Amino acid sequence: MTAIGKGIDTAGYVFERSGDFARAKARLAVSACPDCRGSGLARNTVQEFGRKYDVVTPCACTRHGRRADLFNDTRLPAVHAQASFDGYRPSNAEQARALQVAKDFSLRWPQPRGYVLAGPVGTGKTHLVSATLKHLTLELGVACEYVEVSLLYAQIRRGFQDGRSGGEIIQPLSRVEVLAIDELGKGRGTPFELDTLDELIARRYNSGKVTLFATNYSLKPPEERSQRGYLDTAAALEAGKESKLLSDRVGDRIYSRLCEMCEFVELPASTPDARRARAVSAQPPAMRRA
Ligand SMILES: Nc1ncnc2c1ncn2[C@@H]1O[C@H](COP(=O)(O)OP(=O)(O)OP(=O)(O)O)[C@@H](O)[C@H]1O
Ligand SMILES: [Mg+2]
Repeated sequence: MTAIGKGIDTAGYVFERSGDFARAKARLAVSACPDCRGSGLARNTVQEFGRKYDVVTPCACTRHGRRADLFNDTRLPAVHAQASFDGYRPSNAEQARALQVAKDFSLRWPQPRGYVLAGPVGTGKTHLVSATLKHLTLELGVACEYVEVSLLYAQIRRGFQDGRSGGEIIQPLSRVEVLAIDELGKGRGTPFELDTLDELIARRYNSGKVTLFATNYSLKPPEERSQRGYLDTAAALEAGKESKLLSDRVGDRIYSRLCEMCEFVELPASTPDARRARAVSAQPPAMRRA
């Protein structure tokens, strides 16, 4: 495993890259804990009905290990292991609001609704979602999962070849306490993809589970569509492929549920792409365009 960035965060975890995913481990191993001397157990005396009992409980040092496991089960992309709210620099009012919404959601957990971050590429949507999941798992011990939609579709297709049903793969995602669905609206918009997404979101909606989303598509409501009248299913699928509206990409059923499940934040098209800005600043001054 290769350590990423500075490696250790303030809460005492070391972040590492394990293939495509970010991994955390407790900075202080249980074996090095001065309190339990590596046993992982704490002995306490409790008094009940006038009698004293010796009870054995997990030592506080084991909590970091359990929470690191929760973080690792989230399967965040390796590049976002260092994502934090403090490391997010808003360049406009909408990015400042995106930061506030993500931070409020995390610090005020449990929350009845999640959020959708929409905006152009490289504007920190996955960064904020990652910082949220990191906070929930490592600070609060909440079970979370991150999934990128096109990878989910590919995983289900592979599952079909192994004789597994789509429902089997979707089931754990529909039950996890907080799910983040990234790249919402991406894909070919085939009936298989839309049915998969519809099933996942409908299951989470029906069970009142909180879901976070990030997308490159506009959150404008369906009323903003150009007047084109009734479209049959094939024509609607075709129109969705070209559209920049999320409601066209995912359909009215899913969009309607998102409105109830989430707070919407949309970043303007002018929001700078931080990846490009970083690449430019890494170039020698003479090579930068004026
Ligand atoms: N406002 C910001 N402050 C600090 N870092 C940022 C900011 N915006 C983006 N970044 C960094 O830029 C890189 C790209 O950000 P990220 O992957 O979150 O963008 P995105 O909006 O999800 O893009 P895409 O739509 O392509 O998925 C990451 O390394 C992220 O940490
Ligand atoms: Mg992203």
